[in-house]
Amino acid sequence: LQHVIEAQQFTLPLLHELFQTADQMEKILERGGTLDYQNKIMASLFYAPSTRTRFSFESAMFRLGGKVISTEQAHLFSSVIGGETLEDTIRVVSNFCDVIVLRHTEVGAAKRASLVASVPVINAGDGKGGQHPTQALLDLYTIYKELGYIDGLKIAFVGDLEQGRTVRSLAYLLGKFERVMIYFIAPDFLQIREDIQDYLTRHNVWFTLESDLNKVVSEVDVIYVTRIEKERFGDKVEIYDETVRNYFIDGKLLSKMKPKSIIMHPLPRLNEISPEVDDDPRAVYFKQTKNGLLIRMALLTMLL
Ligand code: CP
Repeated sequence: LQHVIEAQQFTLPLLHELFQTADQMEKILERGGTLDYQNKIMASLFYAPSTRTRFSFESAMFRLGGKVISTEQAHLFSSVIGGETLEDTIRVVSNFCDVIVLRHTEVGAAKRASLVASVPVINAGDGKGGQHPTQALLDLYTIYKELGYIDGLKIAFVGDLEQGRTVRSLAYLLGKFERVMIYFIAPDFLQIREDIQDYLTRHNVWFTLESDLNKVVSEVDVIYVTRIEKERFGDKVEIYDETVRNYFIDGKLLSKMKPKSIIMHPLPRLNEISPEVDDDPRAVYFKQTKNGLLIRMALLTMLL
C-alpha cells in the first residue's frame, strides 16, 4: 500500500488484511498496549472542515505512539494564502513528516498530491462528489462486524447520492463482493451518478434506482443514510422539506426494518434520523466512528 486515494484500489486480500489489522488494533487498545511509532510524524492537512476524520486520524497516530502536526482550514494558515499551489505545499510538507492526511475542496486533489509527495498520501475526502475512501473502509468494516457478511448483502443508500462521496466510495468497494444488491433511494435530482452505475454494471452488481424508501425498508440488511443539505435546493424550501420528510428515519420506519438489520450514517447528521432511533441496537452510526479509529490505525501501520 503506497497511497490511499480511491476505494477501487483496495483488493479483497488487502481488505482482508486491513480488517485483520483493525481487529488487532482493537485488542491492543483493550489491553492498554502501545505500538512503536514514536519516530513517525503524521501531517493532517485539512483544506476543509472535519471533526470525525481529522480527530480519528490524529487520535490513531497518537495511539500508535506517533506524533502529529496539523492545520485545519489550511488556506487560512499556510503559504497557500500567498498563492502557493497544492503541489508545492505537498512537496514542502513531505519533508516534515512520514505520511500526509489530506482533505481538500477539489475533486482529484489527493491524486494530484500523491504524484508529487515523497511520503504516502491519504485522501480524507476530496471535493463534493469525489471520494472518501477511509470512510468507506470503516463503513465496510462496520457492516462486516455487525452482520458477519458482505457477500449477499442488501443495502439501501438514502439521501443526497449525487454528491455523497462516502456513498460513492462504498459503492466502489461493494462492487468487489458477490451477490450484493444495492438500492439507491433518492429523488431524481439527487440520484447516484452514471459513473458509479457504469462501474457496478461492469462488475455485475445488481442495483436499482428508486425514490420510495418504504418499498424496500423491510427487505434490506443496511439502510445507509446521508445528509441532505438545504443549500442544494436553493429557494425551493418546500421541496427540501418534502424530501427530508420522505427520507426521515424514525421509530415508525424502524418498526418495519428486519430485526437483524442496521442503520448507518457517516455523520454529521442534520435532520435525517430522529434521536429516538439512537438507542435502538440497529443504530450503529456512533459505532462507525469508533471503528474509524481502528481502521485508521490499521491503515497507518500498513503505510508506515
Ligand atoms: N464522516 C466525516 O467525514 O465526518 P467529518 O466531516 O467530521 O470528518
